[in-house]
Amino acid sequence: MSAEYPSFVRQAHGAPIAADVRQALLEDPGFGRVFTDHMVTIHWTREAGWHDAKVRPRAPFTLDPATAVLHYAQEIFEGLKAYRTKDGGVALFRPEQNARRFQASAERMAMPVLPEALFLQAIDELVTLDADWIPGGEGSLYLRPFMFASEVFLGVRPSAQYLFVVIACPVGAYFKGGKSAVSVWLSDDYTRAAAGGTGAAKCGGNYAASLIAQAEAIDHGCDQVVFLDAAEHRWVEELGGMNIFFVFDDGSILTPPLGGTILPGITRESVITLARAQGHAVREERYAIDQFRADAASGRLREAFACGTAAVISAIGEIKSSDGSFTIGNGNGGEVTASLKAELVGIQRGDVVDSHGWVRKII
Ligand code: PLP
Ligand code: COI
Repeated sequence: MSAEYPSFVRQAHGAPIAADVRQALLEDPGFGRVFTDHMVTIHWTREAGWHDAKVRPRAPFTLDPATAVLHYAQEIFEGLKAYRTKDGGVALFRPEQNARRFQASAERMAMPVLPEALFLQAIDELVTLDADWIPGGEGSLYLRPFMFASEVFLGVRPSAQYLFVVIACPVGAYFKGGKSAVSVWLSDDYTRAAAGGTGAAKCGGNYAASLIAQAEAIDHGCDQVVFLDAAEHRWVEELGGMNIFFVFDDGSILTPPLGGTILPGITRESVITLARAQGHAVREERYAIDQFRADAASGRLREAFACGTAAVISAIGEIKSSDGSFTIGNGNGGEVTASLKAELVGIQRGDVVDSHGWVRKII
């Protein structure tokens, strides 16, 4: 490793979770509740740059009450998965895209940019050490790289110190019970992001701002919230944690365009590529909520789905709002959604030929 990239110190856990306990946890891990034995930490300071890279036993942090992130939320994160392939190997899906989005998020949040090679090595180090935690079957190991302002200072300016961390958790389906279609709540009162804001960055603050709308969704029996644009409150943008697609009766597909207020999803970009290769015309165009309602009622809109790393591809069956509810198609998803999901998951798990070069085998 060059001086620009610190080499990793590897400290294996002295008392990892016992194999039988781990096996029991892997039976039904849910999402985001079970964690592996290790984590990666890398420090950054203005004077020393990136240094002190370690893969080491997972442990709590001790933070001074004046640590900058606790006050001004200078924090970004990523989400990607490691999959167990049929041949017993381990694969990542487009991890360099996560590395690049992490860099873009860092720039937007006035944080230091982590070199792509260091991001990728951090992932490889953790997955290799915790490979026994990757569930078989439909599960995967969800990786959560994140970085936060660690300087102890209450002035409002970019922090002079940061900590980059990667933790991992074995996961099953994001939506409880692996539902055939999810329902979404249309937020009337709240928006997620405005022009010039941080909508395109994966920063914790975006999610903090979305939680009141997500709580409303849960109160109305919905799985997720769907946000409209902040300027006109008319154009469908995305869900709290997923991008959105619409499938029409002529086989064409539409997804809202990226314009600074939507997270540029890696699944979104992959779905656009796969759908075009399957012969669908895909438009990145704005879609008005009134048109959405009218097309669902007329049957012109056949399917809608949400997509993201955590959710993969999930059909949207019903939209609820203060103006009433409407159903898309028969409310249970449809063929186009199912076929895109099968192809995407097949590529991720090595069952379908990876003709786009998206899969990175690490074991
Ligand atoms: N939109 C939001 C707000 C998200 O949190 C996510 C999840 O990461 C996505 C979209 C989908 O992005 P990706 O497909 O890269 O996981
Ligand atoms: C992901 O899909 O990785 C996300 O960060 C979304 C969140 C809802 C878990």
